[in-house]
Amino acid sequence: MAGAFWTRWVLTLALAVLGVQAIDIDLSSESSIKNAASIAAYGMMKHYKGNESGEIPGKLPNTWWEGGAMFMALIQYYHYTGDSTYNSEVIQGMQWQSGDCDYMPKNYSSYIGNDDQMFWGLAAMTAAELDFPDSSDGYSWLALAQGVFNTQVARWDNSTCNGGMRWQIWTYESGYTMKNSISNGGLFQLSARLARYTSNSTYAEWAERIFDWAVSSPLVSNSTWNVADSTSITNDCTTQGDDQWTYNYGAFLGGAAYMYNYTNGTVTKWYDAVTGLLNVTLDEFFPSEYGGEIMSEILCEPLEVCNDNEIIFKGLLSSWLAFTAYLVPSTYSEILPKLQGSAKGAATTCTGYGNNTCGVRWYNSTWDGWSGLEEEMAVLNLFAANMLPFTNSSSAPLTSSTGGNSTSDPSAGTGDSNNDQKTLSKITTGDRAGAGVVTVVFATGWLGMMAWLFMG
Ligand SMILES: *[C@@H]1O[C@H](CO)[C@@H](O)[C@H](O)[C@H]1NC(C)=O
Ligand SMILES: *[C@@H]1O[C@H](CO)[C@@H](O)[C@H](O)[C@H]1NC(C)=O
Ligand SMILES: *[C@@H]1O[C@H](CO)[C@@H](O)[C@H](O)[C@H]1NC(C)=O
Ligand SMILES: *[C@@H]1O[C@H](CO)[C@@H](O)[C@H](O)[C@H]1NC(C)=O
Ligand SMILES: *[C@@H]1O[C@H](CO)[C@@H](O)[C@H](O)[C@H]1NC(C)=O
Ligand SMILES: *[C@@H]1O[C@H](CO)[C@@H](O)[C@H](O)[C@H]1NC(C)=O
Ligand SMILES: *[C@@H]1O[C@H](CO)[C@@H](O)[C@H](O)[C@H]1NC(C)=O
Ligand SMILES: *[C@@H]1O[C@H](CO)[C@@H](O)[C@H](O)[C@H]1NC(C)=O
Ligand SMILES: *[C@@H]1O[C@H](CO)[C@@H](O)[C@H](O)[C@H]1NC(C)=O
Ligand SMILES: *[C@@H]1O[C@H](CO)[C@@H](O)[C@H](O)[C@H]1NC(C)=O
Ligand SMILES: *[C@@H]1O[C@H](CO)[C@@H](O)[C@H](O)[C@H]1NC(C)=O
Ligand SMILES: *[C@@H]1O[C@H](CO)[C@@H](O)[C@H](O)[C@H]1NC(C)=O
Repeated sequence: MAGAFWTRWVLTLALAVLGVQAIDIDLSSESSIKNAASIAAYGMMKHYKGNESGEIPGKLPNTWWEGGAMFMALIQYYHYTGDSTYNSEVIQGMQWQSGDCDYMPKNYSSYIGNDDQMFWGLAAMTAAELDFPDSSDGYSWLALAQGVFNTQVARWDNSTCNGGMRWQIWTYESGYTMKNSISNGGLFQLSARLARYTSNSTYAEWAERIFDWAVSSPLVSNSTWNVADSTSITNDCTTQGDDQWTYNYGAFLGGAAYMYNYTNGTVTKWYDAVTGLLNVTLDEFFPSEYGGEIMSEILCEPLEVCNDNEIIFKGLLSSWLAFTAYLVPSTYSEILPKLQGSAKGAATTCTGYGNNTCGVRWYNSTWDGWSGLEEEMAVLNLFAANMLPFTNSSSAPLTSSTGGNSTSDPSAGTGDSNNDQKTLSKITTGDRAGAGVVTVVFATGWLGMMAWLFMG
């Protein structure tokens, strides 16, 4: 750790002195944004080996969920820029990891969490909505999203806390006793998106059930619009781990925006949720000390302790903010300056190694010495989201009645034995090391928070 710290520090200094070129981004120019996004996409894919011989498509070293997040970024990249360079890798990886049409591939299904599976489901949903090219011989994007929905709602847990999704799927996983925002917010958003895409009201009923449960629990407040990270069944979900993460807000905000749009803007509940969650999101994660328009992961950036999972979160929020601006047009003028301020900030920090490597802290006009696939992914999402002003409502997420033609399979995933607890063999530590689940900061206070932060 110490070695890495000094290396970073010395490099930062050296590059600052050399005055390495940042990514040049002119936010009023469509081609400039596309070019910046292509630099970030290239930088991200430099770290991806899954399409090489002997490698496993879609599986990243030490993590499984991040593959879903990576493809979700590339699907949007293609949509916003038209650059199909990475499409074949997206299709290959998304299909390879698909399991029985539900993203429960048997190599990993015995130790992944609901949130891990969720991200692949959201990636597939994004592909359906953005008309991403189909696989010639695989599952349809919509069916994959439906498979994730079906396998997850079957795990809805009424036995504790009057409902909710647990963080983890299996009893032997630590985290099984927790109910967390990203698992519930993620499924809420997926359900809302399926409702809007298919017009099947079953999905809308689930979206509403999940949301209502979340606001009845400590996870989401419908008065302050605070989104906590997690709550525990060990005390009947009466207290919360209140760590503040961008993606938890983004998951609920995005879901509410889809519900608002699905209900044609007629339901106050969804409008209130969108405006309330957006208000807190913008107040909290765009600190005024950095000018108020640059997104920051406030919990881990100041001490530079963001782990790989956490580095991705701002990218997810960027994407979901852009979707919100399409789906709830009244939010557009509030959201756009924040995406632009962030992009302007991030671009100036992408000076690492003299090859436009981006760091973590977008507000600090120098590269902070961090680098990796996750850093590039977050910036890629951000740049792609900045195409917002150059698009129109026909670039918004599609539905089956506005040109989305992904094939529906309402019963996808329901026959998968990898979902059956009894068929699982004992997992090995080797397996577990590959899991790389999304960080949830445990329980009721700072003690738990510190423990998790430093384990990351
Ligand atoms: C930039 O350089 C770093 C360090 O050598 C390397 O890990 C990374 O893949 C390079 N990125 C690109 C886009 O060449
Ligand atoms: C993997 O994809 C990259 C594009 O990111 C491409 O340059 C490379 O040739 C591909 N490798 C193989 C073995 O297909
Ligand atoms: C599962 O593991 C085997 C052996 O490493 C590998 O060949 C296969 O591609 C993996 N499948 C998935 C979906 O990762
Ligand atoms: C859980 O409870 C709700 C009502 O509280 C009910 O509608 C639902 O069917 C129950 N789900 C399961 C899986 O038992
Ligand atoms: C807020 O949530 C509570 C608890 O579920 C519910 O009783 C109340 O009606 C909600 N208030 C509004 C304004 O939606
Ligand atoms: C929204 O409006 C469309 C077009 O008028 C209508 O077909 C649809 O049923 C409405 N959706 C809902 C959920 O009310
Ligand atoms: C959020 O709402 C509060 C209270 O109404 C207001 O003071 C604040 O300016 C709002 N923030 C944003 C970003 O709109
Ligand atoms: C729903 O989203 C579409 C696509 O962006 C937009 O044109 C429409 O105005 C939205 N509906 C409402 C009620 O805001
Ligand atoms: C930017 O980073 C440098 C080097 O890490 C640090 O000295 C400086 O305080 C940072 N600036 C801000 C605004 O955080
Ligand atoms: C919306 O954008 C699409 C593609 O960018 C374009 O083909 C279409 O003409 C535009 N429609 C309007 C009404 O501007
Ligand atoms: C959906 O439409 C596109 C053309 O826009 C076509 O290439 C694709 O094959 C269609 N997919 C399905 C499943 O019909
Ligand atoms: C709507 O979705 C539910 C849940 O997946 C499914 O059982 C039902 O068959 C679907 N209805 C239609 C008309 O597709």
